[in-house]
Amino acid sequence: MTTSDAARIDLPALETVRLRLRPFSPDDARDVFDYASDPEVTRFVFWSPHTTVQESIDFVNRHVQLAGNGELASWAVEHAADRKMIGTCGFTWWRPEHGKAEIAYAISRQYWNQGLVTEAVGACISYGFDVLKLNRIEARCMPDNIASERVMQKCGMRHEGTMRQTMMVKGRRIDLKLYAILREEWRKSDES
Ligand SMILES: CC(C)(COP(=O)(O)OP(=O)(O)OC[C@H]1O[C@@H](n2cnc3c(N)ncnc32)[C@H](O)[C@@H]1OP(=O)(O)O)[C@@H](O)C(=O)NCCC(=O)NCCS
Repeated sequence: MTTSDAARIDLPALETVRLRLRPFSPDDARDVFDYASDPEVTRFVFWSPHTTVQESIDFVNRHVQLAGNGELASWAVEHAADRKMIGTCGFTWWRPEHGKAEIAYAISRQYWNQGLVTEAVGACISYGFDVLKLNRIEARCMPDNIASERVMQKCGMRHEGTMRQTMMVKGRRIDLKLYAILREEWRKSDES
């Protein structure tokens, strides 16, 4: 994440119909461990399952520190009705000089396939275009991660191609599908 040439970010809470996206709190570590220790959740991501609560504490602390420093951090995704922190969603990097950033997300398996991440990503995209004044928002997924690709499509992102053998992840060379939405496409996708 590059914020050196950008203003300090005071990460706001974003409300959606069923979710509250808010800055991380040190109390989130237990909930993070609940989903981040699940190998099904980490199957298509770059990180391995958390094996100790300390890993979740470190993860949460990094986010608390980033936000405290006025840097762009991911949001903790809280399920409003259940009052439970169920995952993360936010910008993994930001290039203010190019007006672009990348979104990433993960939530607890218990909450999959209810449209929740589509809801969260929609709020992030609005924040990116409205507040960060981005021109382009990207997301990438492994080709077998159908649920993630579907989220990108439902949020109005377009498939731009496949980055072949672009990273080594967990000892494997992986391909990544690249999706993006431009500012000029955003309102149109909202209306459709
Ligand atoms: C990927 C992930 C974030 C999706 O979150 P979610 O809240 O379940 O997403 P949504 O419910 O908004 O949308 C999922 C869509 O994928 C579809 N889907 C899920 N699994 C599918 C499958 N095996 N085949 C076809 N469609 C599938 C769902 O039906 C839904 O589409 P629909 O609304 O058109 O029916 C969630 O599964 C997750 O956290 N996975 C682990 C972490 C991860 O992989 N993160 C992304 C890294 S790129």
